[in-house]
Amino acid sequence: AASLNKKQLLVNQHILVTAGPTYEAIDPVRFIGNHSSGKMGFAIANELAEMGATVTLVAGPTSEITQAKNIKRYNVTSAAEMLQACELHFKTAKACVMSAAVADYTPIDPAKQKIKKQDSNLQIELKKTVDILKVLGEQKRADQVLAGFALETDHEEENAIAKLQKKNLDFIVLNSLNDSGAGFKTDTNKITIIDKQFHKTTYSLKSKTQVAQDICAKLTELILA
Ligand code: CTP
Ligand code: CA
Repeated sequence: AASLNKKQLLVNQHILVTAGPTYEAIDPVRFIGNHSSGKMGFAIANELAEMGATVTLVAGPTSEITQAKNIKRYNVTSAAEMLQACELHFKTAKACVMSAAVADYTPIDPAKQKIKKQDSNLQIELKKTVDILKVLGEQKRADQVLAGFALETDHEEENAIAKLQKKNLDFIVLNSLNDSGAGFKTDTNKITIIDKQFHKTTYSLKSKTQVAQDICAKLTELILA
C-alpha cells in the first residue's frame, strides 16, 4: 500500500543488497560474529522495493524480517557463503549496496567436533576472508553502480575515501562510531556519503528508515544517470 505513494523510479531494476553480520565457525557450536543487527540493510532493501525495484537480499544471521513481495531473500551464514551468493547475483544486477558487516577473519580450520575445555589457554588461528566488495568492484561493468559502507572510529573521511578507491565504488556511506546514535544496535544512524568525484554530503541523525531513503536517493540518481 505504501508503495502506491512512492515514485516507482526503479521498476525493472534488479538491485543486490547485503545485510547483517557473518558468522565464522570455530567448531560445530561456536562462531566469531559481530554486533550488526541487519537493520540498515533491511531498511535499504525495503526502500528499494517500495520504489519498484526487484531486490535480491543476501542476509547474514539476523532476526529482521521482510514482507515485500519483490524482495527475494537468500540467507547465508559465513563470509564465504556471502561471497558466493553475491558473485552469482551481481552479474544480473544493475546495482549493489553492500551493507553487510562481513567478518575480516575466519578460523583457518574449524574443528569437526566440539572443542573440549582444557587447563591451558586456547589459541585459534585466523585467516583473512575475501573482500567481497573489492571482488565486486573488480567485476563491475560500466553500466553497474556499486556502493559500500565504511565503519570508522578515527581518520574517518580519509579511511572512507581509501576504501572507495580501493574497492572501485561509485559511492561510500561513512558511519562514524564517534557519532552518538549511530551504529549497530540503534534505530538511528548518522551518515556521510562520499562519491567517486569526492563530492561529500553530510546528513543529520535520522531513523534508519530515513537514512535508507537518503542512500537510495543517491543510488537512484546514479542508476538513472
Ligand atoms: N566488506 C566486504 N568483504 C569483507 C569485508 C568488508 O565486502 N571481507 C565490505 C563491507 O560490507 C563494507 C566495506 O567492505 O561495505 C567496508 O567494510 P569495513 O569493515 O568498513 O572496511 P574493511 O575494508 O573491512 O577494512 P577495516 O575493517 O580494516 O576498516
Ligand atoms: Ca572490516
